[in-house]
Amino acid sequence: MPKLCAIPGDGIGQEVIPASVTILQAALPNLEIVEAEAGWGCFEKHGVSVLPETLDQIRACGAGLFGAVSSPSRKVTGYGSAILTMRQELNLYANIRPVQSWPRVSPRPDVNMIIVRENSEGLYVGKEQSDGETAVAQRIITKQASKRIGQKTAELVRQLGRQKVTIVHKANVLPLSDGLFRDAVRQEIERLCPETEIDELLVDVAALKMVAAPETFDVIVTTNLFGDILSDAAAHWGGGLGLAASLNWGNGLAIAEPVHGSAPDIAGQGIANPLAAVLSTALLARFVWNLGDVASRLETAVQQTLATEIYPQLTTTRAIQQAVLDSLA
Ligand code: NAD
Ligand code: IPM
Ligand code: MN
Repeated sequence: MPKLCAIPGDGIGQEVIPASVTILQAALPNLEIVEAEAGWGCFEKHGVSVLPETLDQIRACGAGLFGAVSSPSRKVTGYGSAILTMRQELNLYANIRPVQSWPRVSPRPDVNMIIVRENSEGLYVGKEQSDGETAVAQRIITKQASKRIGQKTAELVRQLGRQKVTIVHKANVLPLSDGLFRDAVRQEIERLCPETEIDELLVDVAALKMVAAPETFDVIVTTNLFGDILSDAAAHWGGGLGLAASLNWGNGLAIAEPVHGSAPDIAGQGIANPLAAVLSTALLARFVWNLGDVASRLETAVQQTLATEIYPQLTTTRAIQQAVLDSLA
């Protein structure tokens, strides 16, 4: 029986996670759910952004669903971002961010890409120093992590029958670090999926293509920060942040998470779109629980909800939740 650790977190996480859990339970009635705490609110209450019990519960369940975190952009002593802590502590080294065109909300009809973001290193190693005059951030790329993300990409390509992988990097300026990433990823994909077309792009050109010709991308694999930025840009084609889903994935452990943040501008109003969270649970179903049929049911329900004439009038989290439940019924 699948188990899920639900962690609403901050802001609209408190609204979209309960809605998506209700929907997931309708599609998967035997799901066992435990709830846990993490985020800025958790830090204010307990002095840590992720409780050790939360990590234990995610490990015990094998799967988590995290809402969002509000992080201050100034340094707060003792605070570390909850989501970054969970990624590091649980070794969730791949971040899978699919973007597809949906009816009504997508600006164009023909986008269908998956961004595979290296999720463990690069500029996210948290090694930053400043003496007030010079600030230095380390950007670490290892062969081991690059090979690992290449392998995960190859696994996805095979499972989903994808045709082309674009490796995005900046090896013209960073030949040692991004050159290492590019070569290690390419080698693994060539080894594991010899029939797959491999393409590469510098990240600036990739950004232009993301704007001008998003339909030309199939699978993108890239380093941590480039993946962060490109996936928000790509989310535009999928109907915006309210629809953008992701899966932080390691070995036998994963946390699904909408790409959006805590949205302090709308938090508490009951108007957050829960579909990104719903689509994130579909990623858990497909990739972690191997329940492709449940994932497809959830995605079809989202598709039908978006396609209805009345979708533009569904302006509350509750109304969207109900429409998805009606589609599932
Ligand atoms: P955000 O994603 O929270 O919001 C950006 C804009 O999109 C806002 O106008 C918001 O109202 C809108 N939006 C986002 N999700 C929506 C939804 N489901 N339905 C309707 N509208 C939605 O980004 P931000 O404002 O730059 O960041 C706010 C906080 O969230 C910051 O503290 C930031 O660090 C954090 N953040 C967390 C995550 C995460 O937990 N994964 C991701 C991004 C930002
Ligand atoms: C994301 C977010 C996080 C990131 C933040 C909240 C640390 O933007 O999941 O894309 O930068 O990875
Ligand atoms: Mn981001």
